[in-house]
Amino acid sequence: MNEALAAGQQWRADTYAKNARFVADLGQPVVEWLAPVAGERVLDLGCGDGALTEKLVALGCRVVGVDAAPDMVGAAKARGLDARVMSGTQLLFADEFDAVFSNAVLHWIKDADAVIAGVAQSLRKGGRFVGEFGGFGNVVACRTALRAVMLARGVDPAPLDPWYFPTADAYAARLAKGGFRVDRIELIHRPTLLPTGLAGWIETFGAAFLSALPAGERAAAVAEAERLLAPLLRDEQGRWFADYVRLRFAAAKP
Ligand SMILES: C[S@@+](CC[C@H](N)C(=O)[O-])C[C@H]1O[C@@H](n2cnc3c(N)ncnc32)[C@H](O)[C@@H]1O
Repeated sequence: MNEALAAGQQWRADTYAKNARFVADLGQPVVEWLAPVAGERVLDLGCGDGALTEKLVALGCRVVGVDAAPDMVGAAKARGLDARVMSGTQLLFADEFDAVFSNAVLHWIKDADAVIAGVAQSLRKGGRFVGEFGGFGNVVACRTALRAVMLARGVDPAPLDPWYFPTADAYAARLAKGGFRVDRIELIHRPTLLPTGLAGWIETFGAAFLSALPAGERAAAVAEAERLLAPLLRDEQGRWFADYVRLRFAAAKP
């Protein structure tokens, strides 16, 4: 087991590309908040398979990507990127980046203070920390359904739930406590089309819940979550939308 990753969660580059390409595709606004300048040294924290890292490189940045999942780092390296296996709670850099960028990662790490401390240490004075991740109320319908199907099978879902979805106020307070000046922070409601439906989404993002069930019982649990959520998240054309809420922020190390 990889201790840095949420228990039961599997990060595989092949299923990520199939079910979750939208995550990087929808990351453009965070890149705009970063406003990268050619030649800057940027750390992409939780780079995944490197789709966004590659965009930062194309904009002229010198980018290092880190991610705790070896399979994702392998896919990023296959794009020719400088990607390294490293946990967001144990960053091994000091005063060397102009900016730390992170898309769709920080809600997977419950020890937010350790991440913030590592980012502060990695940045030079005046460096920026710009990111987006799940905010308060993110995927609340999906999360409730996953919890309900586990409860119905006699399993307490609380210890399985991998996510940290803070309010803007709570995260801003953590950033400030970690020594950052918070320039912008916003909670953004963003209903998101799921290209491979709810089942594909659960395959990539809900594994931590289902991992507590015997393999033979997982398909029935997914089908039950679909029955619960279809009236709420599936439109007349059969397309699934998840109730995403993002927390986007830009901070700086004074
Ligand atoms: C939803 S993906 C986002 C990947 C990429 N930033 C993107 O926009 O496509 C979340 C990533 O966070 C990584 N991750 C989860 N926990 C981590 C941790 N403790 N340290 C570093 N990376 C982590 C996963 O391995 C995964 O690649």
